[in-house]
Amino acid sequence: MLRIRRRDYQKYVNECCCYRCFFHNFVVYYKPEKQLNMLNKKVEKILNEQVEKEGYSSSLYLAMASWSEVNGMAGVAGWLYAQSDEERMHMLKIIKFINERGGKAVVPAFKQPGKDYPSVKKMFEEVLKHEQYISASINEIVALCMAEKDYTTHNWIQWFVSEQIEEEANATAILDKLNMLGDKNLYVFDRDIMSLRGED
Ligand code: FEO
Repeated sequence: MLRIRRRDYQKYVNECCCYRCFFHNFVVYYKPEKQLNMLNKKVEKILNEQVEKEGYSSSLYLAMASWSEVNGMAGVAGWLYAQSDEERMHMLKIIKFINERGGKAVVPAFKQPGKDYPSVKKMFEEVLKHEQYISASINEIVALCMAEKDYTTHNWIQWFVSEQIEEEANATAILDKLNMLGDKNLYVFDRDIMSLRGED
């Protein structure tokens, strides 16, 4: 429903000499009341927490990429650099959504990820564990949206639900290969790992 603020209404009246200019002023001064579908505060909070988790994921994979690179595994490093970029994209997607819905996205400090890893296999075990943690976190957002009847966010977050299925599947596929190979003779694995990325 159109609502005219009292202050604006006074302007129309003061500046009008006829119906024609009343309607002209109405168009100039009328501004719709802000926000028909503001982001629920509890949902805003949990989305901001997810911003931190996605940002940390990006740092974590960047640290793993750097470790792989200095240990002579350019292919593994390439996979992890791409994964780090993807996680940053996830973080940006959430930031933009919060702001577009009338909330305020806050970019936090991220804790420092590890610098060294005992082996490639152990590193990918950590990747899978981390993705499972992120999936659980996305599911908590889904549950909160349902509880708060925020069906707009519920619909939007489904993209992340699907994404997590893919990310867990990718990490599991890599670990399956590493379980076959052990920690040695990773030359072919390092050469071919990029072919295990869903989009490549
Ligand atoms: Fe964006 Fe893999 O979590």
